[in-house]
Amino acid sequence: MPDTPQVPAPAGLPLCPSSALAEGGTAHVWDVLEYSRPQRAFVLRYDGVVRAYINRCLHVPVEMDWQPGEFFDSDKRYIVCSIHGATYDPEDGRCAGGPCGRGRLTAVAVAEQGGQVHWYPSRDIRPVPANPAGAADESLHDVP
Ligand code: FES
Repeated sequence: MPDTPQVPAPAGLPLCPSSALAEGGTAHVWDVLEYSRPQRAFVLRYDGVVRAYINRCLHVPVEMDWQPGEFFDSDKRYIVCSIHGATYDPEDGRCAGGPCGRGRLTAVAVAEQGGQVHWYPSRDIRPVPANPAGAADESLHDVP
């Protein structure tokens, strides 16, 4: 019987302490590469569970938070886009109202264990490579 190569499960990358994500509270935002293009992602807690998405509205591809890391509406029920008010269900990212159509936000795999939240890169969503020592971080902020 031939040996079947074992493909290791993708390793989780630490994001933040679990205690940093209060129910309905401020999200933790971080940089990723989606299809090699810089994007921001966010993780927040809803219904006791951490959930993460790419920070990009389906109406117009812009970031949605009305203050850094602030995505929830006043009732803490929906993720709301600050630009034109599209609302998304935090449970699955599906558009719940407004000009976001029938789509859903792009999910990012996250989990928490031992008081730490981790995210799990995929084929399409990868971590931003660490900068060489002393190099300026121009890749994420000076996109023409
Ligand atoms: S850009 Fe998000 S609702 Fe228009």
